Amino acid sequence: MDVTVLRSAVVLMVATLFACDGVENGSSQLPADASTNASGGRIFDAQCALCHGRDGRLGMSGAKDLAVSKLDRAQVAAVVTNGRGAMMAYGRILTPEELDAVVDHVLTLRRSP
Ligand code: HEC
Repeated sequence: MDVTVLRSAVVLMVATLFACDGVENGSSQLPADASTNASGGRIFDAQCALCHGRDGRLGMSGAKDLAVSKLDRAQVAAVVTNGRGAMMAYGRILTPEELDAVVDHVLTLRRSP
């Protein structure tokens, strides 16, 4: 068999695989959602874990235990955006997307009842 034909066939196959991958990532929302959640966790670890702990339970300087918090999503967003007591407001520190992602992350720290 001709080696060049074989080689170009392989190149074509690889190119097609990459092309499919690109289309999938472009049309599907899943990869974007996954990265949003991941960045919510990163923001939390960087900005919030100091007082709340990575699992939300540290309670440093009077921080509320986020695993037993009963606030709904809007209330969590309000506390994070406007601050409360010893906790500063993050409304001017984080972008709306970052606020959204970190609020999502806070809700994942809840213990199932
Ligand atoms: C300087 C320490 C500190 C940091 C940093 C901090 N918090 Fe807090 N957080 C607190 C304290 C203290 C409270 C309790 C406020 C009060 O009610 O007086 C609190 C309360 C909360 C509550 C309300 C919980 C409830 O059930 O009432 C949420 C939600 C929350 N924090 C999320 C966050 C998030 C998200 C971040 C990061 C973007 C963050 N916190 C960063 C100290 C902190």
